[in-house]
Amino acid sequence: SGSADLVIVANRLPVDRVTLPDGTQEWRPSPGGLVSALEPIMRANDGTWIGWPGGTDQDHEPFDADGMSLVPMSMTAQEVEYFYEGFANATLWPLYHDLVAKPSFHREWWDAYVSVNRRFAERAAEVASEGATVWVHDYQMQLVPQMLRELRPDLRIGFYLHIPFPPAELFQQLPWRRQILEGLLGADLVGFQLSGGAQNFVRLVRQRVGHKTHRDLVYLPDGRSVRAAAFPISIDTAAYEDLARSERVEKRAQEIRDVLGNPRRVFLGVDRLDYTKGIYARLRAFSELIIDGHFDVEDAVFVQVATPSREQVEQYRILRDEIDRLVGHINGDLGRIGRPAIHYLHASYPREEMAAFYRAADIMVVTPFRDGMNLVAKEYVACRYEGDGALVLSEFAGAADELRQAWLINPYDINGMKAALLEAYRADDKERSRRMKAMRKTVTQHDVAAWADSFLSELSELRPSHGKSVRP
Ligand code: G6P
Repeated sequence: SGSADLVIVANRLPVDRVTLPDGTQEWRPSPGGLVSALEPIMRANDGTWIGWPGGTDQDHEPFDADGMSLVPMSMTAQEVEYFYEGFANATLWPLYHDLVAKPSFHREWWDAYVSVNRRFAERAAEVASEGATVWVHDYQMQLVPQMLRELRPDLRIGFYLHIPFPPAELFQQLPWRRQILEGLLGADLVGFQLSGGAQNFVRLVRQRVGHKTHRDLVYLPDGRSVRAAAFPISIDTAAYEDLARSERVEKRAQEIRDVLGNPRRVFLGVDRLDYTKGIYARLRAFSELIIDGHFDVEDAVFVQVATPSREQVEQYRILRDEIDRLVGHINGDLGRIGRPAIHYLHASYPREEMAAFYRAADIMVVTPFRDGMNLVAKEYVACRYEGDGALVLSEFAGAADELRQAWLINPYDINGMKAALLEAYRADDKERSRRMKAMRKTVTQHDVAAWADSFLSELSELRPSHGKSVRP
């Protein structure tokens, strides 16, 4: 066995290898909430992170970055197509998000999913020390726990799903449903964002695999038991707040407001460009408020940051075209010279620039049709250290379970969404601050360190005889 006491297995490394237009290559932070969530705990434990650096056929030696050791796993062009774009993001992603888009089922994609999961499991088995803790992440890696347990029964294995786990009625469409459930049962602890996901999982295991279950426990025929429970993820709240308080960010936020023409209210959306996020409906709702005469482009602007994502997948291309057209349409109809109604940015920005956007925004608009948690909502709250600002949040985001004082909306109900946007627009300082202060309390008490700590302590309690403890 290897020498790492804490091993993370995730589809992506925390950094991506990107090729610049001039042909040179560099490492950049990779997209998504997962990476920002896990970085702090990895640093605290000298952890090893196994993942894909993006791109195809790039062979890289393991290397150290910021106190963690990174093990890049290369993928062939066909694996990227079948495993990543195919099974992970055109089968599982829409299936696990309430069928917001129609999932495709292809046997070749499944075969690629099995073989990529096997390669990741084998690599983890090589680097993990005797009795080590291996923490496997997200829907791309659901077979790894079982594969790894077969190779290394000495390990303590945890699995965490960052996206929703669907109800049985949807999950049972999957031709390989039983294999996925058995893959996950290789873990000692299976973590979900919400208790509903954990319950869906236990029910499916009972019905489809036939194991005995009691509350959050599954009893396997070999005497082992598996626990399924909710661990709602969070952010490094203090780090965001510090960033927000910095002079550079404050200055940049003011610059952004100036460039926008200092309207009375700045609305902001920040998402990966994904069909689960409800970007189209939200921009329509905003534009209708202008058409209905509730405010004017001089009073309010909408800034939408849409981070490029999964651009080879057809449904993402279609979405991009739709949003491009909608923004063009709205600005053409409602904008004035130097005053577009929507500032649309198809780009990704460093964390510092994001903090400046959050500081510049009066109303944060988060309207997914389905979302595991949504860390953007929490990041916005963390940055509003003065207790001002307003959050409009979909009931279909995991974050809505905790951020009860947001203006909660149903993204399928455009009129309801318009009413909430208008209320947030008109709310007085007292109302805004009452809500924001309550939400800040939640996000401050429950940060990503508390999340990782509760998952890892639960995991070590489940297998106390094994292995070394992991520091939160
Ligand atoms: C979500 C998923 C992550 C994923 C991220 C970015 O947050 O839960 O597993 O890494 O999106 O998506 P990508 O396909 O670019 O890795």
